[in-house]
Amino acid sequence: MSAVGKDVPHDSARGHVTGESIYVDDVPPLFGELVVDFVWSPYSKARIVSLDLSEARKLAYVYTHEDLHHNRLGPIVADEPLLVDDGLCTFRGQPIVVVAAETRAAVDAAKRAVRIEFEELKPILTIDDAIAAQSFIGETRYIRRGDAEAAIASAEHVIEGVFFNQGQDHFYLESQAAIVQPGENGAMHVLSSTQHPTEVQEVIAHLLGLQMNQVVVTTKRMGGAFGGKEAQATHPATMAALVSQKTKRPTRIVYDKDTDMHVTGKRHAFQNRYRVGFTRSGEIVGMKVEFFSDGGAYADLSPAVMARAMTHAENSYYIANMDIRGTVCRTNTPPNTAFRGFGGPQGVATMENVVEEIAAFLKKDALDVRRVNCYGVETRNTTPYGEVVPNNTLPRLLTELPERCDYRARVDAVRAFNASSQTQLKGIALSTVKFGISFNTKFLNQANALVNIYLDGSVQVSTGATEMGQGVNTKIAQLVADELHIPYERVTVMITSTEKNNNTSASAASSAADLNGSAAADGARRIRERLDELESRIGKQETWEKLVKAAYHERVSLGERGFYATPRLDWDWTSGQGTPFLYYTMGTACSEVLIDRFTGDLKVLRSDVLMDIGKPINPGIDRGQLVGAFIQGMGWVTTEDLRYDEKGVLLSHSPTTYKIPNINDLPEVFNMDWIDVENPINVGGSKAVGEPPLLMAISIWCAVKNALQFVANGDIARLKLPATNEEILMRLTEYAKRGAAVA
Ligand code: HPA
Ligand code: MOS
Repeated sequence: MSAVGKDVPHDSARGHVTGESIYVDDVPPLFGELVVDFVWSPYSKARIVSLDLSEARKLAYVYTHEDLHHNRLGPIVADEPLLVDDGLCTFRGQPIVVVAAETRAAVDAAKRAVRIEFEELKPILTIDDAIAAQSFIGETRYIRRGDAEAAIASAEHVIEGVFFNQGQDHFYLESQAAIVQPGENGAMHVLSSTQHPTEVQEVIAHLLGLQMNQVVVTTKRMGGAFGGKEAQATHPATMAALVSQKTKRPTRIVYDKDTDMHVTGKRHAFQNRYRVGFTRSGEIVGMKVEFFSDGGAYADLSPAVMARAMTHAENSYYIANMDIRGTVCRTNTPPNTAFRGFGGPQGVATMENVVEEIAAFLKKDALDVRRVNCYGVETRNTTPYGEVVPNNTLPRLLTELPERCDYRARVDAVRAFNASSQTQLKGIALSTVKFGISFNTKFLNQANALVNIYLDGSVQVSTGATEMGQGVNTKIAQLVADELHIPYERVTVMITSTEKNNNTSASAASSAADLNGSAAADGARRIRERLDELESRIGKQETWEKLVKAAYHERVSLGERGFYATPRLDWDWTSGQGTPFLYYTMGTACSEVLIDRFTGDLKVLRSDVLMDIGKPINPGIDRGQLVGAFIQGMGWVTTEDLRYDEKGVLLSHSPTTYKIPNINDLPEVFNMDWIDVENPINVGGSKAVGEPPLLMAISIWCAVKNALQFVANGDIARLKLPATNEEILMRLTEYAKRGAAVA
């Protein structure tokens, strides 16, 4: 009867395709409801010379920072004003004035009537400019082992370079949204499209001068989030809550797509300097890497994102002497934030780039370089930050995938193809990932759950997990059903509410099912123990329903609160040493690409992915996560191009100019699989799958780099990320010119 391990359909599958699923803006207008919007800074940096709200106030409710009790928020440090308050706008899109009225038309008219005179100032818009101006957020951090300088100095070969990667827009289909209903005595109820109801609750309470127990935040589901609603759903919800507090009326705020893209933060762009020493067989003996990320105007989650980049800097490879430095740059762009992978992709891509370059330099196959350096199972298995890699399946994955996808023969075929074709170019690469699972902030690794059994034997479960399409509710229901020994259909996971579960962590770090599933299983297990004890007293009951009735009549509690705190974790930033992760999700991917030599047009011919995701709680849902994440990663490494003008205006701010992958871009051959291994340390033997497969798409970028290597005239081919058609064409042109000059 076990539900765990089965392809139970996603609990919203039917609703999503029939349209029955309710998102925030599907809630019918409430009586007296106001539409909320805001006027934002049109400049990346500007001083407000004068602000005249007199005309706007004739048309709508208008509020500024003066209407707030407090005006600072932030998930790590509260350094960001919700509304511009010292006359200085520090990013384009920063909210200045909140406007509310009965209709959209009235709101728009009032926004136009807000008169602001700005003095434009010179912004910092790039990592280079920030470094030149020494404009940073927080301190540079370090992870060090051995003596990287000395090892590089005495190495047979050295390569150095700078790896550039761009940001990425979350492109969730449902924009940021919230509905607020004021209650009695200043209390309020907020329906928010957020990964983090507790943070929305905390920020609203703090900024509006309420106690947290006066604010209830609920989240039914999100139409995608990808990290973009981990810290930045707070802003719209708090603006709406402010209007509800002032007017005592229900409010609704829903960003349109273009606004959402303009004003919210993105995946961090990174610019990383590396120097690596290695032997003639490709073994890395020492490496120094300096990460610089574009943090935007405020801290947001940037320090934690940087920490994850740094703890993924060596990826799957044992590097005895390593020196990792991370600095977050402060620029005048919207604060960059969590995005699926959370710095991991930027760290791993940097390392995979280095491995490809070592192979190119030595004229070796990159797979052999990866094999030589791969973490061992019993030895060579300690990370630069001191964590021992448990249950390392990377060597197995690196053996199995090349066999499965016929890697060696295809490498030869690619070489033969490139020697014969004047118009096209192929490339192939097999990349790896080792992704640390746990929040890299220790206290976040906890969860609580409420399990209620009703008189008819049906069960409600409530946790802090939020459903963003990833299927966490389905997995939790499966786990609870198994703990209670009842059919899956008897269990319903309820809307996420801060009223049911207090002090929850964001659904993030791939950990929502691990943490909340463990807490729910804990609650269910303790009820089951009471029921088992009852049966041992009164005798075995024929059915679950009879057992529940009997328990009620015997006054045995049919409700429980479960709790889980991840064991083992221990992490100290000052030393850069410890055990930040409970375990690692691992994988390998091989991609082959075809490039048009005259246009730079890129096609992915084939991708094979083989991962260790433990024993899936729900294989169908995990397959969906694997495929979806890979394709989202493919967008990051190939087509998604955030373009800004010289004043920091985002030019690619809508689907017409910002290209996410569509069905035509998918690999023509696409094989997604996992090996059959249990993860003994996690619930149900499973592993987290939300983020790691996104990083498998780096194989596509590496394949492009591999293709360019064939025309680089013996130099190491350099390539920025994303490898857009334009970027590829520029590299092709550069190599053709250089080749002509040599000839
Ligand atoms: N992932 C996502 N969110 C976080 C993390 C993390 O590792 N650490 C702190 N917040
Ligand atoms: Mo996620 S990027 O951990 O919300």
